[in-house]
Amino acid sequence: MKGKVCVFGSFNLDIVTKMSRFPLPGESLVAHSSMMGPGGKGSNQATAALRAGARVHYIGKVGNDDFGQFARRHLEKTGFDAITLFTCKEKPTGNAMIYVAGDDAENMISVYPGANLTVTTAEVNRCQPTVAAADILLVQLENNLSAIQRMVRNARQAGTYVIVNPAPWQKVSAAFLKNIDLLTPNSTEASQLTGIAVKDYASAQRAAEALHATGVRQLIITLGMQGALLSTEKYLAHIPVYPAQPVDSTGAGDSFNGALAARLAAGEPLEQAALFASAYASVCVERAGAANAMPLYSDAIARMQQYPELTVTFVEQVSAEAT
Ligand code: RIB
Repeated sequence: MKGKVCVFGSFNLDIVTKMSRFPLPGESLVAHSSMMGPGGKGSNQATAALRAGARVHYIGKVGNDDFGQFARRHLEKTGFDAITLFTCKEKPTGNAMIYVAGDDAENMISVYPGANLTVTTAEVNRCQPTVAAADILLVQLENNLSAIQRMVRNARQAGTYVIVNPAPWQKVSAAFLKNIDLLTPNSTEASQLTGIAVKDYASAQRAAEALHATGVRQLIITLGMQGALLSTEKYLAHIPVYPAQPVDSTGAGDSFNGALAARLAAGEPLEQAALFASAYASVCVERAGAANAMPLYSDAIARMQQYPELTVTFVEQVSAEAT
């Protein structure tokens, strides 16, 4: 079954350079390679959801410039059900400088959001029928918070399931968190959300408890090589990480979120969708770039079949009496 996912989020033009190590402040370092391509957390997650099997409507905003034209050409040929791409006359298209280095292909990213931060109330409201028609709305925090909050509120009113990937981090209110169905921070964002230093499964569990106490119903904290913690009011589970030969970790979190949304929209249970997303992300990091690195559904299924011993581990079931 193909579910409908609406992704509201950023488009950035990415310039990615691969280096043997990250440069020091004030240092010029020669890169091994450099490439320009489509990026931005919204566009990356929309592409991942599409390739993981969903019907996708992407909503974003770009500048009235060459990068904006590049974005439109790229998005039109991606295969989305539909795109709604607003244009800003005052700000340029968002762009990102990305360094990739080291054995794990870690990255450092500097983002200039530009037009991504200029989405107006009128533009959000024009998207209401799209949001209402979707099974899932997936958003990140790379747009202006006012627009994200309104989009989420509109989805909520329409009964659309809402996933928020709180990246890059910006401070959100407790009222906003209560409005969403699933929150997907990485360890850094979980630390920023709670003030608890999240570095392993035990500290992620403490952060999850703190977030549930503020009204977050379901969350997945991704922990890099340590997998992910899935925590709901009913159970706690560990999602394993799949082995990979990393080439570029840019977009790894985006691949996880897009794939997760696609499988949830297709009707899979949360823990199975999260396991699929973990396999999907492991294939993504083996490819260079962001949106263009997103695997197909079949690639993730093949990875899961390669490692049948990797399954979801339920750590704790909360009894009906305790809830
Ligand atoms: O998550 C990766 C993305 O973050 C890149 O594509 C870059 O544009 C930044 O938004």
